[in-house]
Amino acid sequence: MTSRTTTRLYPTKNDLPEASRREAIGLLNQRLADCIDLQTQSKQAHWNVKGPSFIALHKLFDEINGDVAGYVDLLAERIVQLGGIAEGTVGVVAERSTLVDYPLALSTGAEHVAALSDALAEFGRTARVGIEEMNELEDADSADILTEISRGVDKWLWFVEAHQQGG
Ligand SMILES: [Fe+2]
Repeated sequence: MTSRTTTRLYPTKNDLPEASRREAIGLLNQRLADCIDLQTQSKQAHWNVKGPSFIALHKLFDEINGDVAGYVDLLAERIVQLGGIAEGTVGVVAERSTLVDYPLALSTGAEHVAALSDALAEFGRTARVGIEEMNELEDADSADILTEISRGVDKWLWFVEAHQQGG
């Protein structure tokens, strides 16, 4: 973990044990950093994609960005509900994200499809790890949020990967 990790826990009448809440907050902040990174990566793809599939991919990548912004909010607000501090600044995300940094030189649709599908797949994998972690902490609501998020990310992975399939 990074030195920026906060330890402050606000009191709450939420009945989840304090130790579980503290652990869940740390794990959810990790997923939050990855999710914000994924959101910026989809915008990066939206802005820079070129080629014959421009308009379809330009619109698809923006739709993904919009949904991922919703996932970011779900994660951040769950952290705060548990008494934690949502750590979503660009500086923290740059330090903490586990996603591969999005390559700046990409231009073709195929290149962006390859890069963004990698990011979606990796994020989906870590979200599923997160579901297991939340189940172990008996935090069913955080597990449910991560299930909703991974379900959405899997759908977007399908939409993006379909451009590589059927050839
Ligand atoms: Fe736009």
